[in-house]
Amino acid sequence: MHILHVVGARPNFMKAAPMIATLREYGIQQTVVHTGQHYDASMSDVFFEQLGMPAPDVNLAVGSRSHGAQTADVMARFEPVVLDYQPDVVLVYGDVNSTAAAALVCSKLLVPVGHVEAGLRSFDRSMPEEINRIVTDHLADYLFTPSADADVNLMKEGIDSQKIFCVGNVMIDTLVRLLPKAKAITRDDGVFDAPYALVTLHRPANVDDPETLTRLLRAIAMLSRDIRVVFPVHPRTRARMEALPHWNNGGGVTLIDPAGYLDFLALQLHSELVVTDSGGIQEETTYLGVPCITMRPSTERPVTTVVGTNVLTGSDPRRMLAEARRVLAGERKRGSRPPLWDGCTAMRIADVLVASHVERQPVSA
Ligand code: UD1
Repeated sequence: MHILHVVGARPNFMKAAPMIATLREYGIQQTVVHTGQHYDASMSDVFFEQLGMPAPDVNLAVGSRSHGAQTADVMARFEPVVLDYQPDVVLVYGDVNSTAAAALVCSKLLVPVGHVEAGLRSFDRSMPEEINRIVTDHLADYLFTPSADADVNLMKEGIDSQKIFCVGNVMIDTLVRLLPKAKAITRDDGVFDAPYALVTLHRPANVDDPETLTRLLRAIAMLSRDIRVVFPVHPRTRARMEALPHWNNGGGVTLIDPAGYLDFLALQLHSELVVTDSGGIQEETTYLGVPCITMRPSTERPVTTVVGTNVLTGSDPRRMLAEARRVLAGERKRGSRPPLWDGCTAMRIADVLVASHVERQPVSA
């Protein structure tokens, strides 16, 4: 059996790493294709190193483009790779442009696709990721879901229940494995020496419009009067901030470069609260029991608000500040860990793939 993995952007790497390690233990032939959607060392290489992933066998080097051009480039460059490597199954991860592009290529070549992190829906089609999720799920042959709500979403869309496997959250496999290393991380810049709130923002809806971004940055500067703020800045956000005519954070916000996996996990662990618009961070904080305020109107990960520590405030700075102050006053939401977020998800996925491969083998006379 030969499995080909497609990764492209930062949030893919921590989902693919445990799959690659587990399938290696099963003795399965594997190929790793990096589309090159993310290419900066701080957005890509550091993750391969810290997650212990093998260097990609193929790098499509698509780089940053408009959505249409980036998706088309992945498709055009990935198709010959599939034809050349002839995998039995292609695994795609999450909801980035590379995910949907690779699924489209495989489905036209009749190569079975497994979607890891299937079934999530924000029900907000203005998010590019929501389009990628819908397209990928409707093309995939195996839908590996992280939670029961995802199964319900897929069934409502008419997807055959035989294709759906509720396996838990594969990103949590990585977290469980690397938590001891993250706990041992130290910093010499003083960030861990006093309480702080950790902030990340990179969604186009929050950072692309200068007025919205200015409003959010002002709110973050206000939060920094109550607690020091540490803000690792995504390249998209950095470019938008630099284009603003004037922004003064008042000195209370420590801007740092995007952090590698272990450093970011350590930053979450030591923080009093996290303010974010990321998807994965909502899940990591839920697992860690750290209060999370998500500056989005909706989430495709409702289990983090129902079971976990996550609260949605939309992009409204006043709601974010009110919620943050509640947390700092000690009224933090107590959450628990969702079922199957236990560090064994990659094994459950591997078992499904191996069993179905055995079933598909012709019976010899
Ligand atoms: C992408 C994903 C998003 C994910 C995020 C995590 C899509 C539609 N979006 O958004 O779901 O949460 O990754 O980071 O796939 N850039 C660099 N260096 C890099 C990569 C990007 O400087 O290594 C800059 C470029 O200016 C680029 C911009 O960031 O134009 C946006 O990159 P892109 O991959 O298009 O989208 P993200 O915002 O990173």
